[in-house]
Amino acid sequence: MGTTTPGMIEPSGGPSASLPRRRFAELLLGTGFLATAAAFIYPVLRYLIPPKAADLGADSVVAGRVGELKPNSGKVFRFGERPGLLIRTSDGQYRAMSATCTHLSCTVQYREDLHEVWCACHNGLYDLNGRNISGPPPRPLQSFEVQVRGDEIFVRRREG
Ligand code: FES
Repeated sequence: MGTTTPGMIEPSGGPSASLPRRRFAELLLGTGFLATAAAFIYPVLRYLIPPKAADLGADSVVAGRVGELKPNSGKVFRFGERPGLLIRTSDGQYRAMSATCTHLSCTVQYREDLHEVWCACHNGLYDLNGRNISGPPPRPLQSFEVQVRGDEIFVRRREG
């Protein structure tokens, strides 16, 4: 028989077992609180202090295959850490440029109906050489060299 003080409900383990249980419960609550706080704080910190974007440094990538693009079409491809845009013009020439809008970095796309490069975020427009021609983009898109070797279309950064 355990001794209890009036008003105190004795847990099944007796008074000697209640203290470790209480500590365990406090530890569990404290750990839960810390985990919850970390779950909220970590994403905020990652947003405020983003990791350094490491461009993978590839100077040349295969952006597509011959025959993949019909005339007057385009596709977005991956160039290192960033998107690139490969265009096949109506007369069959290939053009390539960065697909990162110079306004606020949205990904641009080729508009077959306009025959131009369009940014959906704020209606920015570039010509087929990547020159900004209307809307908010302040600068041209970075243009790339295109080489067709065999069946593959290589895109390369221009030097300088
Ligand atoms: S991000 Fe492209 S026009 Fe604003």
